[in-house]
Amino acid sequence: MSTQPESSNLMEAIVSLAKRRGFVFQSSEIYGGLNGFFDYGPMGVELKKNIRDCWWNDMVRRREDIVGIETSIIMHPKVWEASGHVAGFSDPLVDCKVSKNRYRADQLFFAPVIVELTEETAYDDLQKLEAKGINVPAERYGEALIGPGKNNALIGYVSALESEKTTEELQSAAEALKRKLSIRGKLRPVQPRDFTEAKPEETSQIPSPATGNPDLTPPRAFNMMFQTNVGAMTDASSVAYLRPETAQGMFVDFKNVVDTGRVKLPFGIAQTGKSFRNEITPRNFIFRSREFEQMEMEFFIHEDDDWAKWHRYWINWCKDWLLSIGLPESHISEYDHLKEKLAFYSKGTTDIMFKFPFGVQELWGIAARGNYDLTQHATASGKPQEIFDEATKKKFVPHVIEPAVGLDRIFLAVLASCYAEEQVTDEKGNTETRTVLRLSPRIAPVKIAVLPLLKNKEQLVARAQALYAKLKRKYTAFYDETGNIGKRYRRQDEIGTPWCVTIDFDTIEKEGDTFTLRERDSMAQRRVTETELFALLEEQVY
Ligand code: GAP
Repeated sequence: MSTQPESSNLMEAIVSLAKRRGFVFQSSEIYGGLNGFFDYGPMGVELKKNIRDCWWNDMVRRREDIVGIETSIIMHPKVWEASGHVAGFSDPLVDCKVSKNRYRADQLFFAPVIVELTEETAYDDLQKLEAKGINVPAERYGEALIGPGKNNALIGYVSALESEKTTEELQSAAEALKRKLSIRGKLRPVQPRDFTEAKPEETSQIPSPATGNPDLTPPRAFNMMFQTNVGAMTDASSVAYLRPETAQGMFVDFKNVVDTGRVKLPFGIAQTGKSFRNEITPRNFIFRSREFEQMEMEFFIHEDDDWAKWHRYWINWCKDWLLSIGLPESHISEYDHLKEKLAFYSKGTTDIMFKFPFGVQELWGIAARGNYDLTQHATASGKPQEIFDEATKKKFVPHVIEPAVGLDRIFLAVLASCYAEEQVTDEKGNTETRTVLRLSPRIAPVKIAVLPLLKNKEQLVARAQALYAKLKRKYTAFYDETGNIGKRYRRQDEIGTPWCVTIDFDTIEKEGDTFTLRERDSMAQRRVTETELFALLEEQVY
């Protein structure tokens, strides 16, 4: 039976496999690593390239309404002023004054601890609280007693960092606090809120996760753009930024594409490339890192066009595309951003969420941004960003729908959902665990492994080499002649190779020049000719 380890173990298993089989390494590992930076090994770089290529082929090459570009990572600093990133690309941060730890306010959760006191013991309990200086009430049953029931006492605050167990952690911290203060009565279930939602009178009472005491500062803004200097001078005039998103490249080059690309509304401009964000809490492996790759597309529509229709179209397109590279539908959901939390220009944003081992998290954001970005750049640069409408003979600034996704995040979603462990029994009745990555053939780093049954049989090796040479002209193939055939299959299972082809004695001794084709997921074997093999690859690898 095929299973996945428990969520917490699954993450460990993935990180371990990623290192062991050359998918992902810590950056600068021999120097102790650099937090938030990663390297992709020989298998990882193939998997990543395949995901990127699938996206590019489906998003750009196979469509007639989208063109691709590649813009520079460092752009004119005015780009980031116009886009709002210089003023507003910030995370609210909270510092612990004692431990010097820094937390993102939206990832630091807290809850008031409320106990329903009983009639009989309330007086006693309130005295205990008063003795400890906690919320000493002005009148016994007055200000300290909150909520609709007069018996509810606020006995303190608890805090925990965001995780899939935040609520459980807060609840057990609340129980511990109640025990510590020896308060009787019924503990109310905690209602977690994040630090950005804390009222000023609460921030001074919430304990730091590091010290357990109320040592936290109020939230402060921190800009996440990496700053550098262009040229020899290092003064204010030379300041530039590593781009925090690829999207602005499409807006800034909008006119260039319109003037040269023979495009007509509605149309899109797409690019893939590195982005950099000085994240405060890079975490969950490659889920949130400081250097990552984005795949973004700006789809421009007429100002009078139905933006909601196109928004839905792109949400559906993105979900279908995720399925096409093998992500399971059961792990995918949608989250609509609350209207009151949207930027003033935004018409709507929907995130495609994915069930990662550490919880359901954003994978792909699809935003309807009106004509805000082009208008901002038109104003800041003084260069109009309009299009001429033949029908109305009027100029207007197109509106945009932006599907933006992180390639590394898709990579992690793929590893997490394709990883499986199976108990298998061999011919001798021995049971072992088979680790298998059930990668779609579209994105598997190696499409096919060529295995001569024995390495010391010249004829077998020669036929295997000839097939391998032919296969690798078109597909990433792998030649392996070492170890017994079972071990060689297992090695390929672990890196997600969909098929192994074995050149055995039937190949060279019987008529028909057939091979044993072994399928990764079912482990079923059948005989195929070279023509059938190439037809299978042609159909499944696109
Ligand atoms: N242009 C819009 C934009 O960049 P975003 O929601 O900030 O929007 C888009 O980023 C996508 O990029 C996210 O949905 C996520 O997949 C990916 N992403 C963002 N920050 C990331 C990080 N620090 N590490 C890895 N991927 C990240």
